[in-house]
This record gives sequence, C-alpha cells and structure tokens, in this order.
Amino acid sequence: MLKGNVRMEAKDKRVVVITGGSRGIGRAIALRFAEEKPKVIIVHYDPDEKASDETLELLGKKKIEAVSRKLDVSSWADVDAFFKEVIDHFGKVDVLVNNAGITRDTLLMRMNEKDWDTVIQVNLKSVFNCTQAVIRAMMKQRYGRIVNISSVVGQMGNPGQANYSASKAGIMGFTKTVAREAAPRGITVNAVAPGFIDTEMTAVLPEKVRESFVRQIPLGRMGAPEDVAEAVYWLCSEPAGYITGQVIHVNGGMYM
Ligand SMILES: NC(=O)c1ccc[n+]([C@@H]2O[C@H](COP(=O)([O-])OP(=O)(O)OC[C@H]3O[C@@H](n4cnc5c(N)ncnc54)[C@H](O)[C@@H]3O)[C@@H](O)[C@H]2O)c1
Repeated sequence: MLKGNVRMEAKDKRVVVITGGSRGIGRAIALRFAEEKPKVIIVHYDPDEKASDETLELLGKKKIEAVSRKLDVSSWADVDAFFKEVIDHFGKVDVLVNNAGITRDTLLMRMNEKDWDTVIQVNLKSVFNCTQAVIRAMMKQRYGRIVNISSVVGQMGNPGQANYSASKAGIMGFTKTVAREAAPRGITVNAVAPGFIDTEMTAVLPEKVRESFVRQIPLGRMGAPEDVAEAVYWLCSEPAGYITGQVIHVNGGMYM
C-alpha cells in the first residue's frame, strides 16, 4: 500500500521517486524539491516506519504531497510491480533518484560471499531494476531526469570497501551507458558522487576514523546531506538540461 497525503488532481506537477528517501541524503533530496511542490514517492527498507513517517511529516509541513513504500530495491520483481503501480496511480514518473545504499565493510581477505552479493545487489542491481522499470514510460513522454548516487570511493577506492566501491564504480559506468541510450528521448542520466557525509551510514564509524577522513578534506568538514541534495536538485532542473552522462563530485575537495 502507498501511504501518504497525495491528492490526485494536479497532473502537471512532476512525479519524483527517491529510493532510500526515509532519512539521510534521500530525505534531504526530497525536501530540496519543496519549492516546486512535486508529488514525491519515497522508497525505503527500514525495519520500521519511524524515519519514513518523519520524512512524510516534514514534506507535509512544506505542503509537498508525498507517499512512502517499504520495498527492497534489490528485488527485480518487486521493483517492477511497484513502478507499474506508481505509473498506474500517478500517470508518470518524471524524476528518479537512485539513492538507496548500504555498506558491509571489511577487508577483502575477510569479506564473505554474502557481504559481496548483498552490497552489489542493493547498491548496483537496484539501480538497474529501478531505471529499467521507469525508462519505457520516460521514453514515451520524451522527458525524464535520472540521478544515481554513487560515491567518491567508486573512483578513489577505500580499504575495507571492495564491495561498496565496486558497486559505486559500477553505477558510474551504468550511468554513462544509459545516458547515451536515453538522450535521444530527452532523458538525462547523471551520477552524484558524495564524499564523506554526515548521516546514519557514517555515524557508525569510530570517532578516530571519522577524524582521519575529515583531515583528508580540503574544506575541513564533513558534508551535510543538503550539500548533496543541492547537486541532485540542480541536475533535475531545467537549466541543467544539457548535462548528461556526468559524475558530479560533492566532496569538499577530497578527490579532484
Ligand atoms: N553518507 C555518506 O558519507 C555517503 C557517501 C557517499 C555515498 N553515499 C551514498 O548515498 C546514499 C544515501 O546514503 P545515506 O548516508 O543517506 O545512508 P542512510 O543509511 O542514512 O540511508 C539509506 C537509505 O537507503 C534505504 N535502503 C537500504 N537498503 C535498501 C533496500 N534494500 N531497498 C530499499 N531501500 C533501502 C534505507 O531504508 C535508507 O532510506 C547511499 O547510496 C550511499 O551509499 C553516502
């Protein structure tokens, strides 16, 4: 069941789907869309609805119509069924932000098959699943904006993140290919590669590790989810309509 406060009459508003939108970077992206009052659909896979309900409340306060759905984006069949329902219900998808992601960090020597498979499926296969589920409808309407959330470690590498960095590098290659395939139909596909951002994902790291990361950042601080959201929103805006197949880094200068 889609859950939320959407009324169905405003057909001209953009329909925006954000995976991993319950908290962190995904929540900030949803809120960044506020000024244009779109219809927002948030996907998450949290054990409970606490964070997604909070996000819906924050969006509601900004008068953004929003719904949420708990869904495992690594399941092709579930994603396919979900987007069929979304397109049935809303008539279209204009913006897809593939933001859901997880880490299972450990050195390669200790990494088991499950750590590898789970991260590749949730971070990379999900991007294939969701993009494939919307691309036909976007091509038909000759308009679409897709932004995939990669990571600086997809280019730099990072000890303990062989699975994660491979998934994020995979997103960059996928982005460029789909950008070429979809460009003739007015669809742009880009990636945003955040650096070290203050969210639940990085909150679990020991203080010493966090400090050592911050020392590598020329701007001298962790990024905020809003820093990433700004780039995502801009890539989805009309003035950025000539930009496709790019990876935009938002990392305080950590990687240049
Ligand atoms: N925080 C950082 O420093 C950082 C840096 C670079 C890239 N990123 C990327 O940004 C994205 C968002 O990260 P964040 O820091 O906000 O993380 P977060 O842990 O705060 O939020 C992750 C979101 O993804 C959702 N999710 C996880 N598994 C899912 C699944 N199987 N199906 C559907 N949804 C699922 C969660 O429910 C949650 O909404 C991720 O792709 C992450 O890899 C984060």
